[in-house]
Amino acid sequence: MAVRPYIVGNWKMHGTRAMLSEARAIDRAAERLMKVEVALAPPFTLIHATRKEAGLIGVGSQDCHAAEGGAHTGDISAAMLKDSGAGFVIVGHSERRADHGEKDADVRAKAESVLAVGMSVIVCVGETEEQRDAGKAESVVARQLKGSLPAGDGAAEKLTVAYEPVWAIGTGRTPTVDDVSAMHRSIRQVLVDLFGDEAGAKVRILYGGSVKAENAAELLAADDVGGALVGGASLTAEAFLGIIAVAAEMQEN
Ligand code: PGA
Repeated sequence: MAVRPYIVGNWKMHGTRAMLSEARAIDRAAERLMKVEVALAPPFTLIHATRKEAGLIGVGSQDCHAAEGGAHTGDISAAMLKDSGAGFVIVGHSERRADHGEKDADVRAKAESVLAVGMSVIVCVGETEEQRDAGKAESVVARQLKGSLPAGDGAAEKLTVAYEPVWAIGTGRTPTVDDVSAMHRSIRQVLVDLFGDEAGAKVRILYGGSVKAENAAELLAADDVGGALVGGASLTAEAFLGIIAVAAEMQEN
């Protein structure tokens, strides 16, 4: 596992101000767990308040528009997110790809807009069950990476990749540790090919999809897993801190 694992909670379309107490509790505990880098991506409406309430953890967004501004009713730019207190943006989540028809090129444009305003970006990739069953998981993910990752000088420095098999998200099912290891090795190779040995080696690769305290140790121990992107189990401090505690304990051993 990474020197300092990165555990990111994705609240998806969950949370009103009542949930800020969970963010506060996560933040308070994160102070005691400095061996783990912790972050939350609440809905847009809670970014500012979460940033104010939780001073230690990272706070980010689940999406952004690729343009700097303009006539895009209902959309939010990277600069606006930064202004509201976000430090990072998740782009290319499979729910965005499925629900909003986002293609690799859209994801890349969003990722580049995030980097352009100086924030970090988490780019999500992952195969469907059909693609895995067809033996195409690694080639599908490699293609997504080549199409979705930001290009340009220094792009790798503020980049994190999240591998999230679509069939494992919210289902309680997870790939085997061997499958996670094989995929993360394959992703690393693509990163090295795209960004070179040095920069490509530094990009963190998170695993996401049904991570909870009970399976975190084995998933985090798979080859080249630098942390986790957590949906359902990030919605309460109790569940999320359980995962964070597992990551912290692994650092100590
Ligand atoms: P899950 O979601 O942990 O609820 O499976 C993960 C994600 O979609 O990021």
